[in-house]
Amino acid sequence: MKWTAAAAMLSLVCASAVVAAAGPDPIIATRQSSMKKMAAAAKTIAGMFDGKLAYDAAAFKAAAGTIRARTGPALIAEFPSATLGAPSGARLEIDQARSEFEALARHIGTLATTLAAKAERAPASITDDMRMGSGPAMGGSLLGKRPAAAQADPAKAPAEHLLHLILQDCSSCHSKFRQKVL
Ligand code: HEC
Repeated sequence: MKWTAAAAMLSLVCASAVVAAAGPDPIIATRQSSMKKMAAAAKTIAGMFDGKLAYDAAAFKAAAGTIRARTGPALIAEFPSATLGAPSGARLEIDQARSEFEALARHIGTLATTLAAKAERAPASITDDMRMGSGPAMGGSLLGKRPAAAQADPAKAPAEHLLHLILQDCSSCHSKFRQKVL
């Protein structure tokens, strides 16, 4: 009896030591780092289109691949119920609105897959048809009626416009499903 109790105590001590050593939940740490990598990748692509960064086809391809790999089903898998709420920045509402959360994750995944496919074929220097406002589906002004066509068929949208649509999905999800934690 005594030994069993001692063994049980010991295993409890070990378990809490492991938790302390590992720090915060590794699933949370992994998804936060994944989000940061997406942010860095999006910044890289935006910088190349804005002229703040030198355009580099290989870097564009890598950055688009980073976003593709972390959206869609991969993003959904990063948010199991038990990891939601403080201390993470993931709201508990994700569980109450799973279908909406997953639809957003899939929507951004489709856009990122389309962008990555375009990046695979990216030319050595930026061409006009990669820029916002170009292409038959766009017809010029972003404020016009045409952008809906890009939503309906993202493959027709120029790469720069796809990036903007992707960033809109980042914001839509954050405004609903992300919280500030102290
Ligand atoms: C479907 C929802 C969803 C989408 C889409 C999404 N995010 Fe997030 N993001 C979250 C949630 C929820 C958190 C909070 C995660 C946590 O703290 O556990 C988060 C956190 C972050 C963070 C903070 C990470 C940290 O260190 O705490 C950054 C940066 C970020 N997202 C960038 C992006 C970018 C850039 C995109 C688009 C390319 C994006 N996210 C798309 C839901 C989303």
